Amino acid sequence: MTWDQTIPVRLNIQYPIIQAPMLGITTPGMVVAIAEAGGLGSLPVGGLSPETTLQLIRKVKAGTGKPFAVNLFTHDIPAIDINETDAMQDFLEALSDEHYLGYERQDVAGFKFHTYKEQIEILVRENITAVSFTFGIPDDESIAQLKSAGILLIGTATSVKEALLLESKGIDMIVAQGIEAGGHRGSFLDDEPLPQVGTLALVPQICDRVTIPVIAAGGIYNGVTIRAAFVLGAVGVQIGSAFLASPESSAIPAFKTALPGSTETDSELTRAFSGRWARGLRNSFMEAMANSGLQIPVYPVQNSLTGKLRAYAQQKDKMQFTSLWAGQAAAQAKPWPAADIFNDLVRQVEAAYPQPA
Ligand SMILES: Cc1cc2nc3c(=O)[nH]c(=O)nc-3n(C[C@H](O)[C@H](O)[C@H](O)COP(=O)(O)O)c2cc1C
Repeated sequence: MTWDQTIPVRLNIQYPIIQAPMLGITTPGMVVAIAEAGGLGSLPVGGLSPETTLQLIRKVKAGTGKPFAVNLFTHDIPAIDINETDAMQDFLEALSDEHYLGYERQDVAGFKFHTYKEQIEILVRENITAVSFTFGIPDDESIAQLKSAGILLIGTATSVKEALLLESKGIDMIVAQGIEAGGHRGSFLDDEPLPQVGTLALVPQICDRVTIPVIAAGGIYNGVTIRAAFVLGAVGVQIGSAFLASPESSAIPAFKTALPGSTETDSELTRAFSGRWARGLRNSFMEAMANSGLQIPVYPVQNSLTGKLRAYAQQKDKMQFTSLWAGQAAAQAKPWPAADIFNDLVRQVEAAYPQPA
């Protein structure tokens, strides 16, 4: 096996390995490290303000002149159900009183949700190489704007149906996100039941049905799993959890310390933190929410409601009360610099299949 050249040629990078965008975890330093190592670093800016988006992009550019991707959340902004948010705030207040989590009741009417549409102009102006997105598809106008600027578009699909829709909208490449993946599900067509297809079954079935390049994500962490993804028909891999314990990750110390002692069964899907299904290590907050029987407000309303509590828990390194997004292979995450993790992945693949001189 030699490295598939589809992604390296399209993006002018060396290896078809993408460091997954991980909002709250990926720092500009991580993106720089991967770009400099020859991969595609992804800068997550989902839901951030245009000002913060620009600052983060500039930070990456200050560290590398190499191409990188910027990642958006392409969902619609929902209406707020005050009865639901009131009940949720009662619950969060009581939980906070019991465990000293610094929760303050919030004025929901004052919530401001940023949309990806506010970020498009910045991406065009900053001449970004690739834009990946999750939670939906950008509207036709945004797609046209990005494409006419020559930006490569990478969408996320968790089912064949979602992949077909992305292809029909002119998206250039698809991340096929298996159920093993850490963090939020990218699902945008069905919520009940949520698509729960594993990477092994999802990648080849999407590859069979679309003509655009497919990138495998979910549970990929070493040479064997990378090679498997290519055998399934993928032309690239997107890897997230493997970078969680790196010094360039913003994960709190307790989470980084817990990873090597965790197992493949320790994560589960929850809507408790954000209102969207996401995979993370099981903890007290998830259990308390499940036991409450409450209706969880939709994303990003719940995300904003729990924001201060999560921030407080992170500040105090209390891992039982903040989201610990991690995939089914997160226990394999190495506490090494991101570039060392990346180089080791390349080495493992190349050791199994010696490259031509
Ligand atoms: C902590 C964490 C945060 C994530 N945040 C994002 C994000 O902001 N945008 C996105 O498209 N995907 C996000 N993901 C999903 C990744 O893009 C990718 O699908 C996943 O990490 C692949 O599975 P793995 O974790 O087993 O490598 C996140 C994943 C993790 C672990």
